[in-house]
This record gives sequence, structure tokens and C-alpha cells, in this order.
Amino acid sequence: MKITKICCIGAGYVGGPTMAVIAQKCPDIQVTVVDLNEQRIKDWNDPNTDNIPIYEPGLSEIVAEARGRNLFFSTEVEKAIDEAQVIFISVNTPTKTYGKGKGMAADLKYIELCARQIAKVAKQNKIVVEKSTLPVRTAEAIKSILDNTGNGVQFQILSNPEFLAEGTAVTDLLNPDRILIGGDTTPEGEEAINALVDVYANWVSKDKILTTNVWSSELSKLTANAFLAQRISSINAMSELCEKTGADVNEVAKAIGMDSRIGPKFLKASVGFGGSCFQKDILNLVYIAKSYGLNEVADYWEQVIIMNDHQKRRFSNKIVQTLYNTVADKKIAFLGWAFKKDTNDTRESAAIYVADDLINEQAKISVYDPKVSRNKMLSDLDYLETRSDEANSKALSIFDNAYEACKGAHAIAILTEWDEFTTYDWQKIYDSMHKPAFLFDGRNILDSKELESIGFIYKAIGS
Ligand code: UDX
Ligand code: ADP
Repeated sequence: MKITKICCIGAGYVGGPTMAVIAQKCPDIQVTVVDLNEQRIKDWNDPNTDNIPIYEPGLSEIVAEARGRNLFFSTEVEKAIDEAQVIFISVNTPTKTYGKGKGMAADLKYIELCARQIAKVAKQNKIVVEKSTLPVRTAEAIKSILDNTGNGVQFQILSNPEFLAEGTAVTDLLNPDRILIGGDTTPEGEEAINALVDVYANWVSKDKILTTNVWSSELSKLTANAFLAQRISSINAMSELCEKTGADVNEVAKAIGMDSRIGPKFLKASVGFGGSCFQKDILNLVYIAKSYGLNEVADYWEQVIIMNDHQKRRFSNKIVQTLYNTVADKKIAFLGWAFKKDTNDTRESAAIYVADDLINEQAKISVYDPKVSRNKMLSDLDYLETRSDEANSKALSIFDNAYEACKGAHAIAILTEWDEFTTYDWQKIYDSMHKPAFLFDGRNILDSKELESIGFIYKAIGS
């Protein structure tokens, strides 16, 4: 079976970049990305590709090349489903905010909706690909909906988890460490797997394309994210010990990272990991373990989240303590709001929680982030429902450059590791601040000696 038409439901951080790269690398395949959100689709179709809704280095160029040729963005969900041989599901699967599994399980309502829509529309056999991170055995649920509500056509469900990291999505997609495709071990399942393998083989060498059963593939995604997040919580746990003992966490990370069994990546101590995946996927893993009665397994992984929450709170506490135990009416400047550099995504960003804590202490927060919009920052805070929306907009002022945001501040907190922060005229910033001027580097990106020589009281994580 040769694939010529692909549809992707969900034009978000995963669906958008993934489909743009498939379209670029497979000019013979027509790729249509659909979304219910009309504004989002309008933005993807903006004649100026710099205005597409997702910021990722290199993405706007790829969209400019492929859009209108074999890459299309549309709100006509049913038409795209009807025409495609392969349907990727890339809708969001947030943690449930209600009912059973609240705060832990993944909310599958968007997935179920997609499955029902596919079942209703499909008049020919289709391959349905899970792209969103989903709890293990979701494929089974999708299959049951498709088989029991469909028009009698055959569906093959594949799990093809996404391993791209935001901020490096394009390079991750162009040069993946591996592609994982899980499917049924029946002849029809294998045919579907091979059809998808052939799509990726247009630019990924076959030895990097792994095929497994569906459940291994689903669980591998959760496991990969749990292991990555665990490394961050492990080094963050050490960062607290370093602060007490006089060891330097960067030196410790370097020393252990040179052990080839450990390796150097994902050992950067920070104010805590954010992003749409790590917390959600671990909570999901914990929920699954608990539902099988595996309480020790659940507790083991939950500790990664507990440590991460502790690290965020520890950072805000440290700001308060260092500023003589009160930040009431003091201005604290935040540099960065995104959960990491080179993205405009703020989901689960540490900045949100640190801001919330400091506003509880009646601080005034002034923020600068190169890519995050004002509305996004305010809605992130409003979403926590700690206080009224009015109180949030009073406490948070947003600036379009760092120098303005820092003027008159008592302290600066670095919440995202944007490269531009390392290029600033820090003397100029220091001169404009309230004295003593404090700098809390939540990402360990600045040079402590240089800043201390200017006069800053400089506090990094883990030293
Ligand atoms: C992650 C996985 O890396 C990716 O494979 C998966 O598909 C989705 O989840 P993402 O959340 O986009 O990707 O970004 P990632 O680079 O993993 O960073 C997650 C968080 O960890 C960020 O807040 C980052 O700042 C933080 N981090 C990362 C650290 O604090 N220290 C590190 O050493 C690495
Ligand atoms: P991710 O990081 O997983 O890509 P996003 O929230 O960025 O998550 O994107 C998911 C997209 O899926 C959103 O734009 C949302 O509007 C879209 N979506 C959710 N449910 C449906 C649906 N049933 N049909 C079409 N689009 C959907």
C-alpha cells in the first residue's frame, strides 16, 4: 500500500511541525492538517509565514516551502478524514481536571471525539495513527469506538509517538534518534506498519525505524519521558544538597556526565522542568501503575513530580528569604516565561508557579519574554484560579524589552534560558535597579563572577 494522502487532526505543537516536515520530505504525499480552532488555522495560513502560531526555529521556512504545494491547513475536518488513507491524531491530552483520576489521568475526551468523527466519516479502510502521548491501551479504546460505531470499514490503529522537543522540533524531526511504530502483529497490522515505515523512510534510515506491538510503543513514550524527567529531578535534588554543603551542582553534573554510563545530557539543574509532556506523562504512568495495584511503582515515579514541585517552591522561597523575608510591594523582574528557550509554549512553565507564589507574598512582577504574548502570561496565571483575574493583571506588568522590565526592580529572576539574556549590558541593568540588586538565576546561564563584580548579589541554583 502506498500512501498518497495524509490527514492530521490537531494543528498544535506536535501536529503542525511534524506534518510540515513530512510534507517537505515527501512531496508526493498530500498532507492536510485540520483543527477545530479557526483562528489557529487562519494563523497557519497567514501569507507571512513568520506569523504562524507556533514558534520553532526553522519551521516558518519549511511551511513557506511546502504550504500550498502538498501541505494544507484547514478547518474542514470531515473532508480531510474522508480523503486520507492515514489519519494522525495529534490533539491535546491534558491531565483530567475533574472526576475519576482528576489531576492524574489523561483526559481522553478530545481523542474520543476524534475517533467518533473518524468512524462517522470513513467510507474506506483507514490507518489511524496515535501521535499524541496517550495512556497505555488507548489504542484499544480507539479501536473499539471505530469498530462499533463505524460504517463497517476496516481500521488499523498504529502508535507512533512523538519524541521531538520543543525549541528543537525541526532538527529533531529531520534527524530523529529513532522512529517508533507500534501496530498489530496480524498481516493487516504489519501492512499498515510497513506503509507508515515507507513514509518515514523518505528521510530516515531504516535502521532507525523501530517497529513493536502497540502497547510497547505506547509505554515507551511514557517511559522515555519519565526517565528524562527523572534525571532532572535527580540533579535538582542534588542542587539543594550542593547549596547546603558548598559543592557546585554544575561541577557535580560535569563530573558524573563524563561517566559514559550516565552521559552528559539532561543534567542541568534548574528551577524545575515544565512543558506539556513530562508532568502529564508521569502522572499518567503513576495512574496506570496504581490502577494495577502497583503502589511502589507509582510512588517511585510520583517522587519525580514531588521533587519538581519542591524545586519551584524552593526557588520562590529563596527569593523571599533573601530579600529579607518580605517581597511585599517589591518589584521582581522575570526574564523569561516560556518553559524553555526557543518556544512560545508556556504549558507547566516554572515561571507561572514562581509568579503565583510571589504574588501571594504581594510582590509586583514585571516580565519580559521574547516570544510569549501578554495575554498568554495572564491567562496562565488566571488558569491557576489563585485570585481574581483583576488581581493578576494588577500584580503582573509585561514589557517588550528586558531593560524596561528590570528598571527599579529589587531583584531579577531568570526563568527561561533564552540566549539573548547572556548578551545583555548587565552593568546598565544593575544601574537602573533598586539597591541592593539581587539576581536569581533559575537556569544557571549567567557568569557569577562577572555579575558579582558589577555589584549584583547573585544566586544560582545549586551553588
Ligand atoms: C520532552 C521530551 O524531551 C520529548 O522527547 C517529548 O516528545 C516531549 O517532552 P519538551 O517538553 O518539549 O520535550 O522539552 P525538553 O527539552 O525535554 O525540556 C523539558 C523541561 O525540562 C524544560 O522546562 C527544560 O528547561 C527542562 N530541563 C531540560 C532542565 O531543567 N534540565 C535539563 O537538563 C533539561
Ligand atoms: P500538542 O502539544 O499535543 O500538539 P496543542 O494543544 O498544541 O497540543 O494542539 C492540539 C490541537 O488539537 C489544538 O489546536 C486543538 O484545537 C486541536 N483539537 C482538539 N480536539 C480536536 C478535534 N476533535 N478536532 C480537531 N482539532 C482538535
